[in-house]
Amino acid sequence: MAEVIVCDSAQQAGDLVAAHIAAQVRACPTFTLGVATGSTPLPVYQALRTHADAGVDFSEVTAFALDEYVGLPDGHPQSYRAVVDHEVTNPLGLDPARVHVPDGHLDGIETAGHRYEEALTSHGGVDLQILGIGTTGHIGFNEPGSSFGSLTRVKTLTERTRIDNARFFDSLDQVPVHCVTQGLGTILRARHLVLLAFGEGKAEAVAGAVEGSVTASMPGSAIQLHSHVTVVLDQAAASQLTHRAYYDWAHQHKPAWQGI
Ligand code: F6R
Repeated sequence: MAEVIVCDSAQQAGDLVAAHIAAQVRACPTFTLGVATGSTPLPVYQALRTHADAGVDFSEVTAFALDEYVGLPDGHPQSYRAVVDHEVTNPLGLDPARVHVPDGHLDGIETAGHRYEEALTSHGGVDLQILGIGTTGHIGFNEPGSSFGSLTRVKTLTERTRIDNARFFDSLDQVPVHCVTQGLGTILRARHLVLLAFGEGKAEAVAGAVEGSVTASMPGSAIQLHSHVTVVLDQAAASQLTHRAYYDWAHQHKPAWQGI
């Protein structure tokens, strides 16, 4: 069972997760962080800036992104390479040479997944993976039907996900159809999964992932197979959870030394 922490706001959730990451980086400057893009992790990245400003040194941290769109031109502001640079690498002072994003260029796309897996494996994997969840239940861009054993590869986005992400583009037509994403098997290798979700629109996917059947039809349910998962929600995203009272009780009685 995942630990579920329900916060009063996205900002409070971001502060909580950022404080944990900052403590890990203080203890181990060569920490490896798995970064998600989209709206959800932004409060974490925002709060991490405060820790960077307060002297936490991120220059030896390695980062691996979850996914990248296929076929966007270099420097496109919505490419996940550009988003990670803008939200993580530059503000926190990571060394760009240590920041890895799947290669979404059409040229060589056939080997992009394999090359990313090699980079992850030869580095030694991810210590803490930040995850958001899509309204389809995807984590990374593993849409419903993705194998629990899947590795980094090219996937086709659902129309639902393209519509959800059209807010970042001028029109739906501009949202790529394909992506390169870590597989569910790749994500499950990270040593700690931290899944965040905010807002009513995520409540159904969160309930499915945390409390529903473990099924490829709900890719987020793969987190139930992992030994160390922390789910951090706001009240709205937690609104369809059946065991909410127990999660609150367990959190209130958690020994402080356990952390998240
Ligand atoms: C992003 C990613 C996706 C998003 C998900 C939620 O790298 O892998 O799984 O986390 O689509 O997106 P937001 O946070 O924009 O609602």
